[in-house]
Amino acid sequence: MGISLKEVNFSYNPKRKGTKYALKDINLEISPSDEFIAIIGETGSGKSTLASLFNALKIPTSGEAYVSGIKIKKVRKRRENYNKIRKHVGLVFQMSDYQLFEETVLKDVMFAPLNFKKTKEEALKIAKSSLELVEIDESLFGVSPFTLSGGEKKLVSIAGILAMEPDILIFDEPTAGIDPSTKKKLLKLFRSLNEIKHKSVILITHDMNIVNEYAKRVILMKDGTISFDSSPYDLFVNNRKIVKDANIDLPDSYKIIDLLKEKTSVRFNENIKIKNLGNIVEELINE
Ligand SMILES: Nc1ncnc2c1ncn2[C@@H]1O[C@H](COP(=O)(O)OP(=O)(O)OP(=O)(O)O)[C@@H](O)[C@H]1O
Ligand SMILES: [Mg+2]
Repeated sequence: MGISLKEVNFSYNPKRKGTKYALKDINLEISPSDEFIAIIGETGSGKSTLASLFNALKIPTSGEAYVSGIKIKKVRKRRENYNKIRKHVGLVFQMSDYQLFEETVLKDVMFAPLNFKKTKEEALKIAKSSLELVEIDESLFGVSPFTLSGGEKKLVSIAGILAMEPDILIFDEPTAGIDPSTKKKLLKLFRSLNEIKHKSVILITHDMNIVNEYAKRVILMKDGTISFDSSPYDLFVNNRKIVKDANIDLPDSYKIIDLLKEKTSVRFNENIKIKNLGNIVEELINE
């Protein structure tokens, strides 16, 4: 059933006169399996706000939002309802400090499985394997998450979501502040969650190279509305005006293709899909 938003508006201060809406007129369907979505858009365009609606951290001011068929609304048994939703949708916050709260790294990652009624032994096993996936060293298991570096905090909060084993995983700028080699490993992990485990992965990112190489679908936010929802190819190849108007950088590979087309006699097939720089080299050799 996934995520379904119908005519959703959201305001942080709905009672204030002349309130500004952070999200306007959002209609969106996200499948609970096999999606790899990038949410992009300028700072303040509403990406994080949208993500927090996806797992019921926020409730629509008007319109309807459903997660796995459960309507997101104000309810008395708030925690119970949220737990049901968070079994389906896990969100890694942009700011890791808001996500981490336990005394130690290991306890933090064990929290979700314990909350979902796993035994202590099972929770320990899941937590250890999740931490291993993000390559957090065992020597850090016993330390307070608040003493970690920014990047380590991010990785621990990602492990915390992996340990929840949700169908849909949302990562709000997961690669910001992460070194290049760890970044590559994280992206590989996201791809394997998507391709092998058939999870739906949603990445919020400003990095168009990541969007181009990994995402199957791209959602562009502009002033609180969805201004584009299609494939990265459709955006970067067929909709250059939208790219320009939204102040989005082109992926490096398309920048180079443009340059080669302009400055050299090298010819490329017009419909060519260039996922990354290595891909250009292959295409050149094939020409
Ligand atoms: N807690 C809040 N109270 C009031 N307004 C807020 C709050 N959080 C965000 N906003 C406003 O809502 C709008 C959307 O913010 P949001 O954080 O969703 O943007 P974003 O696209 O994630 O930006 P960034 O790329 O900087 O992370 C902005 O105008 C922002 O100022
Ligand atoms: Mg944000």
